[in-house]
Amino acid sequence: TDLAAFVRGLPKAELHLHLEGTLEPELKFRLAQRNGIELPERTVEEVKQTYKFHDLTSFLQVYYPAMRVLRQSQDFEDLAFAYLTRAHADGIRHVEMFFDPQAHTGRGVEFGAVISGYRSAIVRARREFGISAELILCFLRDYSAEYAMATLLEALPYKDWIIGVGLDSDERGNPPSKFAAVFERARREGFLLTMHCDIDQEGSVEHIRQALEDIGVDRIDHGTNIVEDERLVELAETKGIGFTCCPVSNSFVTEQMKSTEIRTLLDRGLAVTVNSDDPAYFGAYAADNYLALAANANLDLDRLVELAKNSFRASWLTPGRLDGFL
Ligand code: ADE
Ligand code: ZN
Repeated sequence: TDLAAFVRGLPKAELHLHLEGTLEPELKFRLAQRNGIELPERTVEEVKQTYKFHDLTSFLQVYYPAMRVLRQSQDFEDLAFAYLTRAHADGIRHVEMFFDPQAHTGRGVEFGAVISGYRSAIVRARREFGISAELILCFLRDYSAEYAMATLLEALPYKDWIIGVGLDSDERGNPPSKFAAVFERARREGFLLTMHCDIDQEGSVEHIRQALEDIGVDRIDHGTNIVEDERLVELAETKGIGFTCCPVSNSFVTEQMKSTEIRTLLDRGLAVTVNSDDPAYFGAYAADNYLALAANANLDLDRLVELAKNSFRASWLTPGRLDGFL
């Protein structure tokens, strides 16, 4: 439709994208075959039948086991290059991508193999499509703070390839405060900081408060529950904090896109952005997410342009590079 073409044509940045969440069933089969791995499913249809998510836990139970087809550096390169190709077709000009090293090093894959594959894809996509991409290392919050710290130290030799650190996986019982020392060290090493504060998690508002006040994050992933606390909304506004919202992902884990909350924050001028989270699993890349939110929140063209501009405003592009996009 015209609206779809308009959204695709808008220059956009994507700031909330898990590389491991871009593993499409077709590529999964190809990598399994290349690595001699036996899969329980025989067809793409059978794989998609396992995509029955009703909350974050049921999603994560499908997401982690699928990663075992990723073994060699080339596998990580193919995964990231396929995503960057798809993102470019959606009008994404810049992307800051999460990756979960512990989901691979925990299976005996070297940190260096993971990051060198991702880095090769970034260099190639930049050369072929002119898209710019950065990596954000995410710690798995359902593991210990010590394991996260060890992962941070393992990443230090690759510092120049990593723009920031994040926190993902199961939030229940795993507040930001658990990782205060890890994030403190990461900041000292020069990384920018972000964290998932998932939709409607138990203690969500307190987690947002810890992220903003105690950790001092530069951005928040999801975080729309902040609307419940006027003081925190004002603090986020003052600090110019970006929010990386994922409407279609929200509708899987909570049965709602959280359009009202997203719109409230947008109307207040906060740097709210639209992103795809795990597009291979939720069946929606960046442009699909803009369109879904537009329909659900009744957004006009001006608001869509504003969301696209916010994606650069909330990005970690340096001022010189940012000017070219705004
Ligand atoms: N890891 C991958 N996708 C995630 C999500 N939506 N929330 C938390 N952890 C994740
Ligand atoms: Zn996420």
